[in-house]
Amino acid sequence: MKKSSDFQFDDLQGLLRFGYGKLTDTCFLLLNVADTDAAKQWLIGAPVSSAAFSDPPPRTALQIAFSVAGLRALGVGDDIIDNFSDEFIVGMTGDESRSRRLGDIGDDEPKRWIWGGNDKQVPHVLLLLYAEKNGIPEWRKKIEDKLFSTAFKLLRQLPTQDIGNREPFGFVDNISQPNIDWKREQSIDMHRRDRYSNRLAIGEVVLGYPNEYGQYTERPLIDSNQDPLAKSLPNAEDQPSLKDFARNGSFLVLRQLSQDVPGFWQFLDKEAGSVPEQREQLAAAMVGRERDGTPLVPLVDEDIPGIPAGDRRNRFNFVSDPNGTRCPIGAHIRRSNPRTGDLPPGGKGFFCRLIKILGFGLERPNDDLVSSSRFHRLLRRGRTYGPWLAPENAVKQDAPEAERGLHFICLVANISRQFEFVQNAWVVNSKFAGLDQERDPLLAHREPLHSGVETDQFHRPDPDGTRRKTCHLPQFITVRGGAYFFMPGLSTLRYIGALPGTGKDDSL
Ligand code: HEM
Repeated sequence: MKKSSDFQFDDLQGLLRFGYGKLTDTCFLLLNVADTDAAKQWLIGAPVSSAAFSDPPPRTALQIAFSVAGLRALGVGDDIIDNFSDEFIVGMTGDESRSRRLGDIGDDEPKRWIWGGNDKQVPHVLLLLYAEKNGIPEWRKKIEDKLFSTAFKLLRQLPTQDIGNREPFGFVDNISQPNIDWKREQSIDMHRRDRYSNRLAIGEVVLGYPNEYGQYTERPLIDSNQDPLAKSLPNAEDQPSLKDFARNGSFLVLRQLSQDVPGFWQFLDKEAGSVPEQREQLAAAMVGRERDGTPLVPLVDEDIPGIPAGDRRNRFNFVSDPNGTRCPIGAHIRRSNPRTGDLPPGGKGFFCRLIKILGFGLERPNDDLVSSSRFHRLLRRGRTYGPWLAPENAVKQDAPEAERGLHFICLVANISRQFEFVQNAWVVNSKFAGLDQERDPLLAHREPLHSGVETDQFHRPDPDGTRRKTCHLPQFITVRGGAYFFMPGLSTLRYIGALPGTGKDDSL
């Protein structure tokens, strides 16, 4: 197997590597294919930015992803599509049980969404445009040329607004991201599995490479004897006689999450008896960080693989805080990345590990309740929308209402093991790491269990053992839309563009 220290960044879309944080302005377009031939012709010439370094850095960027309906509309055959994962084919809203598992019930039910709520509303194409301050109108003009207008029908432009490095509730965001092992230096088997590591195998976010299990995620492979056009695609690393349709591609999960900023701060203010310090403490406890990003648990002395020694905002895990007296167990960051290793915490030597592997010697009854983090990491690339409302203003009774929130985006190689697992098992589940009757205090709906048991609580244990309880948490975030997309590598994009044409899309 090729051990690549020279990753083919020029075949990868740039968002996977960079996030384009310096390109502060964005415009996300949801499109349908109106004329297949024109769409393919446009795709072949589209100035899609790769992940190769450029000096000077780019002033604009364009990224493209397709839903399963989009791939079909462009003529990608079922023989290819059927080899994608079930969840991508069925889609985010394609079956009721998936919606239930994702917590898309009650006010979050897909039928209430403004886009993507049913098969017919799922856009074919997602176009992500990035530009420097005020650069979007000019960039859009360049992208949306005459051919583009024939090729696509604009279904919706998702609003975005740069509010600095914060999300709308006012917390610094995008502090913690997995560190992708682009050089493949980490041995999948030998890295310190018994401890939390922030290093992540390429195959966890990019298809066609070994993942954290040392395996290749299932994906469409093509025999180029039967499809000569596929000769231009990269070889499958694990089956070199076949061509890899998905290599250097990734799944992109998009969810439009509307945030009730006045509702959040006014509820916390009431709970805190209008004492600003207590209000801040409760907010920080719900997130797991202070508003400026400071973690609530002390930094660790030893190195955490994949976290630079100087990164003071990420050099922590929750081993020193087993009962959540510093960072509550139900806090958003603790639920969405519990920073666990493969084995419960404790001694490191061979015998200690053996004892733990055999299931003995747990230091605390709850030590083994959360699955290992490295199989459930997300590369987050979301952007905010709506006007900024500072917490100090949001708390006032006459705070202006406005539609604001986060276009949550994450890139993963396995939608079900990564995004759906985190959303279901860790975020919306009322049972998590020994907790019950509460869900993620920021994100989740507050529907009671079937038995009628309420789940709208949030616990913060004090070091003396008392559990401070906040009851009747309202729902602060409502889902407004969402879909699963596939963001292909650049050779695959060209392959799709070169597929034999079928003319106008009659389904429109
Ligand atoms: C409007 C919705 C959301 C808000 C306001 C929000 C807010 C935040 C904030 C303030 C942080 C801390 C900053 C950081 O560590 O980077 C964070 C971290 C994180 N969030 Fe969210 N988030 C939202 C939605 C989601 C969703 C839908 C997921 C996944 C299902 C998610 C997963 C994560 C993860 C994985 C982290 C990093 C945790 C870590 O590695 O320590 N978030 N979020």
